[in-house]
Amino acid sequence: MKTVKIFAPASVGNSACGFDVIGFAIDAPGDELIVSLTDRHKEIKIIDIQGDNGKLSWDSAKNTASVAIQAYLQHLGIEQGVEIRLHKKMPLGSGLGSSAASAVAGAVAINELMDKPLKRKDLLPFAMEGERIACGAAHADNVAPSLIGGFVLVRSYNPLDVVPIKTPQNLVAIVVHPHIEVSTKTAREILPTEISLSTAITQWGNVGGLVAGLCMADMGLIGRSLQDVVAEPVRAKLIPHFDAIKQAMLGAGALGSSISGSGPSVFALAANTDTAEKVRIAVTTLLTKVGMPHDIYVSPINLQGAKVIG
Ligand code: HSE
Repeated sequence: MKTVKIFAPASVGNSACGFDVIGFAIDAPGDELIVSLTDRHKEIKIIDIQGDNGKLSWDSAKNTASVAIQAYLQHLGIEQGVEIRLHKKMPLGSGLGSSAASAVAGAVAINELMDKPLKRKDLLPFAMEGERIACGAAHADNVAPSLIGGFVLVRSYNPLDVVPIKTPQNLVAIVVHPHIEVSTKTAREILPTEISLSTAITQWGNVGGLVAGLCMADMGLIGRSLQDVVAEPVRAKLIPHFDAIKQAMLGAGALGSSISGSGPSVFALAANTDTAEKVRIAVTTLLTKVGMPHDIYVSPINLQGAKVIG
């Protein structure tokens, strides 16, 4: 049976100011997906899911990986059966792009098995279909970086225009995942449907600043631009100790800090590994003191995106 194993990395959606339009990938954690071709006509079957504590559906119409595969096969008019084994190696509902990683792994896996008729970036719409199943919106700020690595700007959704952004060397991400779950769907439902012009001006100034700061490797500008006046003020209340976590990160020298995706994870960027370690220690000390169980990931920006590992 022709089989491929794919790793797709976690990602930080929004990257503070870029709600639904900027995200970046980190090296770990991530998902592993094993996909095999079968001779069962058009049957897309999930035969194993591990690491999800029984939370994910085995119905192939409801799982982000199988939905991405289905969308790909349908688009190319291929009537192929596949079997899927999913090893979740990252927390669900964490704001780390878990559903996106599975969807990306699905799209990359089936393209490999079909001998790569599509380019990597052209797999994005199929991975986005997986994201739509997970949270009701086909946002690309997690799937795009998980697919192609680095920082990515979604300049437009219609038509889809995705722009890789240069990533400065040495930039390190610190992501803390407090052990609570926040569903992206819920975190989107509480957002305002309209914002004031002055709020929009602040936000798009920061979006431009972040992109320019990344391109010029201007750490000061990156830090000043990591501000979110749209989603963070509303979502922060879903995250226990959010203000204290953010202050601990900034106090330890982080360039900036905000909610990772729709939360509850909180991320910071640091200009080098020494500062990242100080940020890690500050957050660990805080969350240990307040008795909040958590995981913390310290990672360079992942520049490769999903990869074949077997
Ligand atoms: N941009 C999405 C949101 C990311 O903030 O809802 C979800 O991880």
